[in-house]
This record gives sequence, C-alpha cells and structure tokens, in this order.
Amino acid sequence: MLLTLNRPDKLNALSKALLGELEAHLAEAEADPGTGCVVLTGAGRAFAAGADISDMLERGVDSYADPERLSRWARIEGFRKPLIAAINGYALGGGLELALLCDILLASDTAKLGTPEIKIGSFPGDGGTQRLPRLVGNSFAMQMVLTGEPITAELAERKGLISEVLPADRLLERALEIAGQIAQRSVAITPYAKTAVRAAAELPLAEGLLRERELTIEAFETHDRVEGLRAFAEKRPAKFKGK
Ligand code: COA
Repeated sequence: MLLTLNRPDKLNALSKALLGELEAHLAEAEADPGTGCVVLTGAGRAFAAGADISDMLERGVDSYADPERLSRWARIEGFRKPLIAAINGYALGGGLELALLCDILLASDTAKLGTPEIKIGSFPGDGGTQRLPRLVGNSFAMQMVLTGEPITAELAERKGLISEVLPADRLLERALEIAGQIAQRSVAITPYAKTAVRAAAELPLAEGLLRERELTIEAFETHDRVEGLRAFAEKRPAKFKGK
C-alpha cells in the first residue's frame, strides 16, 4: 500500500489533521490481511517539513502536548507492519522524526534531511533527540540538532540514517519493489521480525536477546512458521496464510 502525505502547499507540515488521516490509513492497512507492507511518501517538494509551525504559534504548548496529537503519534509509532519511508524531498523536524518511525528509509538524491527546530528556538520533541544519536552517534546527532543545518541524502546514507539514495524518478519504483518483496513474505511473521529488530534500538543487549527469543518462540505457534519449514523440506514454495 502506498500512502502519500498530501498537503503540498504547506510542504506536508504535520498538522493534527494530517497525522489523524495518516493514523486512520495505517489502521486500515494494519487490519487489511492483503497489506503486507506500507510505503509512505510526500506529495510535491517535501516528505514533510516538520510540525505545523502556524499551529504552534496559535496554540503554544497545547499544539505539542495535545493528548490527541500525542496519541496519534504513538499509534503511528506502534504500527505493526513494515513501513518504508520514500523521502522525496524535505524531511525536516517532525518530518524527519516521522521518517525515523519507519523501518526502512530510502531517499531521493534531491532530499534534504534535518532538525532545523533550533533555528526557531526549539529542538526535536517527537523522538529526534533519542533516535538520532542511536543511529548516527552522539557527535553527528549533536551537530544536526545544535546547528539545525540539513544534510544531503548522500551524507545521510553514509551516516547510516537511510539505506539507499536513488535518483528522484526511481525512488518510488524502488520503494515499491522492496515493499513487494516484503509483501510476499508471511504477514504473520514480518511484524515479529520488525518487533525484534526494533528491540535492538530500545533495549540493552541482554534484554534484547531475551525479547528476540520470546518472539521466536511465539512465532513457532503460527501456521506460517510451520508451513515455511515444511515447504523447504518438501522443496516447494511456501503457501503463507498470514496467520
Ligand atoms: N509548518 C507550517 N507551514 C510550513 C512549514 C511548517 N513546518 N514548513 C513550510 N511551511 C509552509 C510555508 O509557510 C509556506 O506556506 P505559505 O506559502 O502559505 O507561506 C509553504 O509551506 C512553502 O514553504 P516556503 O518556506 O515558502 O518554501 P521554501 O522553499 O522557501 O523553503 C523550507 C522550504 C523547508 C526551507 C522552509 O519552508 C522551512 O524552513 N520550513 C520550516 C522547517 C522547520 O523549521 N521545521 C521544523 C518545525 S518545528
């Protein structure tokens, strides 16, 4: 499934309404047994240029701490199926933080990624200060957060923030190709794999290893785990049922 943030006149600034729409579409994708993977991209020049600054100006701290906005964000964060960010242009502030909630990040060679909040007297507040250092190390994360200067997709790839840089006209094709490969796997198993890999960023190693073991044991209970093993032994393609 392809989801496009579609507020191009405001560079897809993440208003509460836009987050609400995104959350609703992700809920549909999660419930749909035919959806194995979601690709998220932006219409126009941006993936998303951050939280909605006009809303922040109007509503002050309520625009940030609004429980409904925070719960929308948490539900996007908790999306169980694999999520690919196809970063087509600016991914700034909350736009980058949204991309960091995705499992695989691809970007066009024209994309700019950054945390410019410091330039407007703020700093990342939707996960950026925690996820960036885990991905690119303390020094580079500090440089991004404290200068607010955006980086190119090419540098983001070198720093391990994204996995591939593509010519702009190849970005979606490649994202959909990867999504297609993931969708051929078992829809029952890929969320386990996602959860396990995520645990690596969230838990100390010993706890992460225990979590991985628990998830592996749980996955043995699924039809598809048994089918995958049987299909291999019988030298035939697996017929996954997504359960
Ligand atoms: N919130 C609300 N509106 C935003 C926005 C945001 N985060 N980012 C861009 N927009 C709006 C602009 O206000 C403008 O609207 P207008 O045409 O009604 O004036 C429109 O999107 C286009 O942006 P503009 O600034 O004219 O485009 P540009 O090409 O000159 O600059 C950016 C592009 C990304 C460099 C610039 O828009 C920018 O710095 N945006 C804010 C980035 C940011 O600080 N994000 C973190 C927010 S906490």
